Amino acid sequence: MKGGNAVSGVMQAAISQQIQAELESAYLYLALSAHMELKNLKGFAHWLRLQWEEELAHALKLQDYLLQRDAPITYGALRAPVCEVDTPLEVFELVLRHEQKVTRLINELYALAVAESDYASQTMLQWFVTEQLEEEENARTVVEDLRWSGGAGPSLLLLDRELAARVPEPSQ
Ligand SMILES: [Fe+2]
Ligand SMILES: [Fe+2]
Repeated sequence: MKGGNAVSGVMQAAISQQIQAELESAYLYLALSAHMELKNLKGFAHWLRLQWEEELAHALKLQDYLLQRDAPITYGALRAPVCEVDTPLEVFELVLRHEQKVTRLINELYALAVAESDYASQTMLQWFVTEQLEEEENARTVVEDLRWSGGAGPSLLLLDRELAARVPEPSQ
């Protein structure tokens, strides 16, 4: 039975769409991880593979939220990742642009939750707002490291070793 916490139809559709966007993010990181693995940059590959897992966790978090509110999830077809990139710098510039796009999506979702007076969704989405600060910062740091170091030679291998040390974020 629908109670006072029933989610509106537009909100249900928008959160479902974000689940799809998170899965498409995961798909992109999966592809980029393989791309770096094939270049034998295993630290970069490892970092991107952890990011694939993080994006899957984001999708689950949104799904669990809708289920908690007794709402169904609407699933759409996933688009294949478009990653016409070659060098590590190009890869991380793509990652940064991608995360900036995701930030816009999260902000739009938050604005919708405000327009709908959906306070529970606003609270849930605050986690994603904070997460996007971290995602953009992480990507920007790697882009800047690659720019400073020239993105080749010994400094590239050093950065590859550094990224190999990434550990999964504690789930919240
Ligand atoms: Fe995400
Ligand atoms: Fe993250």
